[in-house]
Amino acid sequence: MDPRAATTVYARWAPIYDQTFGAITQAARRAACRRVEGPEGGTVLEVGVGTGLSLPLLPRHMKVTGVDYSAEMLAQAKRRVARMQLPHIAALQRMDARKLEFADGSFDRVVAMHMISVVPEPQRVMREMVRVLKPGGQLIMSNHFARKQGPLAHLSRRTAKFADRIGWHSDFDISVVLDTPGLRLVERRALPPVGMMTLLVLERTEEAIAPCPANTAAQPQG
Ligand SMILES: C[S@@+](CC[C@H](N)C(=O)[O-])C[C@H]1O[C@@H](n2cnc3c(N)ncnc32)[C@H](O)[C@@H]1O
Repeated sequence: MDPRAATTVYARWAPIYDQTFGAITQAARRAACRRVEGPEGGTVLEVGVGTGLSLPLLPRHMKVTGVDYSAEMLAQAKRRVARMQLPHIAALQRMDARKLEFADGSFDRVVAMHMISVVPEPQRVMREMVRVLKPGGQLIMSNHFARKQGPLAHLSRRTAKFADRIGWHSDFDISVVLDTPGLRLVERRALPPVGMMTLLVLERTEEAIAPCPANTAAQPQG
């Protein structure tokens, strides 16, 4: 979606997110976080951490960094960490997922929940998430993807045109994720509510990935 729309829409979502979309997706978030098993003292990056609903659910024996472009969503996440005293949260930083400010192979696990259908230039974001993963490391995702048939397919198509107002693309194609170079699919399964979300576990292969093309993107405003 348009980068400016993402910034203004999530400034509006921030105060009510946990009681609305956050609550509806909590079962999927819990299932995805359970799948983030990694080595003692290993590193986790959550991209598009939002209000930090996942932070208490991520493994306490790992060191977690969260990034998000919305200052308002990130402020909620920081308040949560202070309130709940979560020592496994190493840092929460404002950052554009299209240009992650981490060296290649920095993390054992990358987590991306309900964000790939939100960000501008999702292919570019996928490449960035692969780049910062160690070879053999895992990318764990939960998201709603477009359906080809059934009532959910009809609903997704009808709401797709409102992406810039609601804050995500309801008809996002899973091939954007599955066709990303440098990843091998390990697990794919339906998640609640009513199988609307999909869990994907993808492993970073040894394959070298070409650097992202020169940044032609407009920087998000905000
Ligand atoms: C639907 S929320 C999901 C938040 C969280 N992952 C969750 O499951 O509750 C999408 C998040 O993506 C963030 N986002 C949008 N564009 C972004 C970008 N370019 N870089 C980083 N985060 C971005 C939004 O600010 C928002 O917090």
